[in-house]
Amino acid sequence: MSAAADDAESFMALTEKISRERGFGTASYKDGCLRRRIAVRMRANRVDDYTAYSHLLDNDPLEFDRLLDALTINVTKLFRNNEVWDAVAASVLPELWAGESIRIQNWVAGCASGEEAYTLAALWHRHVTTHPASGAPDRVRITASDIDSRSLIAAAEGAFGPETLTETPDSIRGRYFAPVDTDGRAHAAPELREMIRFERRDLLSELPPAGALHLITCRNVIIYFDRPSQEALMKRFHHALAVGGFLVLGKVETLLGPSRLLFDVVDQRNRIFRRA
Ligand SMILES: C[S@@+](CC[C@H](N)C(=O)[O-])C[C@H]1O[C@@H](n2cnc3c(N)ncnc32)[C@H](O)[C@@H]1O
Repeated sequence: MSAAADDAESFMALTEKISRERGFGTASYKDGCLRRRIAVRMRANRVDDYTAYSHLLDNDPLEFDRLLDALTINVTKLFRNNEVWDAVAASVLPELWAGESIRIQNWVAGCASGEEAYTLAALWHRHVTTHPASGAPDRVRITASDIDSRSLIAAAEGAFGPETLTETPDSIRGRYFAPVDTDGRAHAAPELREMIRFERRDLLSELPPAGALHLITCRNVIIYFDRPSQEALMKRFHHALAVGGFLVLGKVETLLGPSRLLFDVVDQRNRIFRRA
């Protein structure tokens, strides 16, 4: 067998092992992305072929955890790409709040350690409390999900270091992310925590019921999926949204292929769409 074929075969055996043993569906991710991430862990362990690395995983569950951490890429920040959040606050929340739904259901898909969910909760809380005629904060529900259980534990804690807060506007910071503890971490206000429920969910295989949602944010997640999985996911987002519901993809991703016909563009720059 040629070295290239051997490499392809042992790479596939390794990715299948990751899916089988840790429930992380590698088949939907871009090969190049998986290879780069696995290479980082192989270098850290001074291993230079996939078969040897696979044996190492058999004997070292902690390394398996580290590999999953590397694969899930959970970099995030409060108010990441602030301009997107300004647009959400200006053109999405007021319309949903003025609408007739008894509950406004939001889903933050791929929430990592929760920063995006707390950002949305802060914007919602500010909007609701400045427009009290249309209801109370408990009208808004945010489900935030991720495939990575360890990130979700951090998310539930709701404590953020200074590096996570650099894009947070001062007024929001003072109102919702204080006090700061002795380690320099800011704690999300209880009223934000009350709005959010964190769940482990694989967004490639587990979706909410049809038409149940009013707003989905999914940013910096699908970029790692291969194109067929991205397109399939957009169709399922469409299915999960109520008619007129919003999809926020942010600066990095956009709608692809036939899924473009399923949504109207609300804000092209910030990739905000509305279910047609
Ligand atoms: C770079 S973070 C994005 C966090 C946040 N949305 C943001 O933009 O700051 C990507 C997250 O997607 C999650 N993820 C990757 N594949 C997933 C899947 N199949 N189902 C759910 N979450 C997934 C990862 O675990 C990771 O926490």
